[in-house]
Amino acid sequence: MDYFPIFLKLAKQPCLVVGAGSCAARKIELLARAGAEITVVAHDISAQVAAMQATHRLTIYRKYVERSDIEGYKLVISATNDTAVNTRVSQYATQAGIWVNVVDSPALCHFIFPAIVDRAPLTIAISSGGVSPVLARLLRAKIETVIAPSYGVLAGLAEKFRETVKKQISRPANRRIFWENVLQGRVAELVFAGQHDAAERELTDAIARLDTQMTHAASGEVYLIGAGPGAADLLTFRALRLMQQADVVVYDRLVSGEILDLARRDAEKIYVGKERSQHALPQDDINDLLVKLAKEGKRVARLKGGDPFIFGRGGEEIETLMAQHIAFQVVPGITAANGCASYAGIPLTHRDYAQSCVFVTGHLKDDSVHLNWTQLAAPNQTIVIYMGLIGLEKICDALIAHGSEPTLPIAVIEKGTTPAQRVIVGTLSTLPTKIRHERLEAPTLIIIGHVVSLHEKLRWFAQ
Ligand SMILES: C[S@@+](CC[C@H](N)C(=O)[O-])C[C@H]1O[C@@H](n2cnc3c(N)ncnc32)[C@H](O)[C@@H]1O
Repeated sequence: MDYFPIFLKLAKQPCLVVGAGSCAARKIELLARAGAEITVVAHDISAQVAAMQATHRLTIYRKYVERSDIEGYKLVISATNDTAVNTRVSQYATQAGIWVNVVDSPALCHFIFPAIVDRAPLTIAISSGGVSPVLARLLRAKIETVIAPSYGVLAGLAEKFRETVKKQISRPANRRIFWENVLQGRVAELVFAGQHDAAERELTDAIARLDTQMTHAASGEVYLIGAGPGAADLLTFRALRLMQQADVVVYDRLVSGEILDLARRDAEKIYVGKERSQHALPQDDINDLLVKLAKEGKRVARLKGGDPFIFGRGGEEIETLMAQHIAFQVVPGITAANGCASYAGIPLTHRDYAQSCVFVTGHLKDDSVHLNWTQLAAPNQTIVIYMGLIGLEKICDALIAHGSEPTLPIAVIEKGTTPAQRVIVGTLSTLPTKIRHERLEAPTLIIIGHVVSLHEKLRWFAQ
């Protein structure tokens, strides 16, 4: 992040604009909206800026700018078309310790102006860090279309009732839940429908209906969320929404930083690991942690790689929650089998090659793989093996021993769906030797069956 985004309170603060053309006029307009006390120094004053003198209560000095003109201001904006003047203003301001913006010259700026979506009191600011203001403006146009103007009214309503709600609901976590319900529920719908009085009545009623559970007691909840196989945009909408309202995020090793960044910024993040045979926190402790956090009244996003109910021990976690009467939801995720198969161009079923597909774990117990080999060696099916890399050689040998052809295609997919994805293809008899030199890193998934032969033709994801 090259520029740190903040919102400045400029009401009644002295700000200087050097220049008085159309560009300066745009900056004056913005500063005036924030209530700044604006002084303009310029030799030539355009009619547009002159007309603003009364409406925006500008102080105008018609002169060439000098060092002494710069002092005493909170912000300085240089918007002349003279590079030498702009450079001088930037130097004077820098020497005086005042933040300066020079229009269209990022190198001379301490701050830059974002593209703004104004839904006062709600403001959305977008910046490309000065790299492409046009891109920022295009993005703003997109946001303008999805954030209805009435969001400002909704924000105003929230502001009006903020203190009342604060007095009524003592626990900040419960207060947040109350506001989330209001701002996504009927009150919001009424505002968007233009029925502002009805919205206010609805909000007053909602406050009157608050029960003691909400006003005092802790009412936490756990969201057991499948975070998918890696790529952040494979999350579901529901996963994203719940992640953004959770107070705490409890996450596994397979959940990428990119996905964690989508959680609420101020949410506490707790890593509970789970590397192969090196659990950062044993499963029982994870279960207890979820219970403890929920009993503290927190909304807990329990993020698990892939889908929580596929080799994810999600069932055990919710069993504990149920036993403790803790509210929870389960959000399915794209499991590694689906994600890796799609991104590798290997359909899991295909009319010509496989009419069924089976997911198994190759996790070694006592150095051996316990699987129903006769069933797995049956023809016309695809086998997907999670956690199978260590046992790959044993798996291939056992399948051949139970009747699979040694030439049956098999693929290992490393870090599927991410930019680091690799797909290594061979046969039951060749792959174990082939991967010895590949330095594969976890996570890896194995797909076995004739569908693997389609990879060469159907691969689409750049590796
Ligand atoms: C403990 S299991 C969790 C599975 C997860 N619940 C799911 O539905 O995908 C972990 C195994 O999933 C597989 N896996 C998960 N993400 C993967 C990825 N991006 N690429 C390859 N394999 C992956 C690997 O076999 C890994 O050892």
